[in-house]
Amino acid sequence: MISLETPGGVVSIRPTTQDDLIYVCSAENAEENRRYVSQQTPNEHQTMFANPDIRHLIVEHQGNKVGYMIMAGFTKSSRSIELRRLVVVKKGKGFGRAALKLAKLLAFEQSGAHRLWLDVVDYNSRAQHLYRSEGFVQEGVLRECDYFEGKYNSLVIMSILEHEYQRAD
Ligand SMILES: CC(C)(COP(=O)(O)OP(=O)(O)OC[C@H]1O[C@@H](n2cnc3c(N)ncnc32)[C@H](O)[C@@H]1OP(=O)(O)O)[C@@H](O)C(=O)NCCC(=O)NCCS
Repeated sequence: MISLETPGGVVSIRPTTQDDLIYVCSAENAEENRRYVSQQTPNEHQTMFANPDIRHLIVEHQGNKVGYMIMAGFTKSSRSIELRRLVVVKKGKGFGRAALKLAKLLAFEQSGAHRLWLDVVDYNSRAQHLYRSEGFVQEGVLRECDYFEGKYNSLVIMSILEHEYQRAD
C-alpha cells in the first residue's frame, strides 16, 4: 500500500482483489465514465492480477474505495510505464489528483521509471486539465484511432519524464 496525506485526508492505493471486481466493473461501465475508459469483464481484470508487468490498484480515501487504476510496463527495459486506466467514482474532491500523485510516486520512486505516459480522448477536458497540472506534457495526437458509439475520436498522448518529476512533499 502507498499513501498520501492530503488536506481532505489520507488517499492510498492497494492491489485490487477478487472482492473488488464488481466495484471495478461497475465503475468503468457507469454512464459518466464509459465514454472515457475501456470496459472489460471481471475475468479479464482478474487475469491482470498475476501479470508481473501490470499493477491493478484500488484507490481509497480513509479506507473507503473511491476509484481504481491500472498501470503497465513494470517489466519493460525502457522503464516506460503506462497509466493505462484511471477511474474516480467520487469526482471533484481531489481524489483524481491524489491518485495521479500516487501513480507518479509508484512509477518514479518505487519502480525506477524513466517515463510515465498515458492516452486520453481528445474531448476529456477534465482529465487533460488534471494531467497537465500534474506535469504531464502533450506528445502528440493519434488521429481518429478510437471508435465509440458511431464516432471516431482522437487520442492525445501525454507523458512526464523522470527529470520532470518533482517529489510530492
Ligand atoms: C478524470 C478523473 C480521474 C479526475 O478525477 P477527480 O477526482 O474528479 O479529479 P480532481 O477532483 O482531483 O481534479 C479535477 C480537476 O479538473 C478540473 N475540472 C473539472 N471539470 C473540468 C472540465 N470539464 N474541464 C476542465 N477541467 C475540469 C477541476 O477543477 C480540478 O482541477 P483543479 O484542482 O485545478 O481545480 C475523474 O473525473 C474520472 O474518473 N473521470 C471519468 C474517467 C476518466 O476520464 N478517466 C481518465 C481517462 S484518461
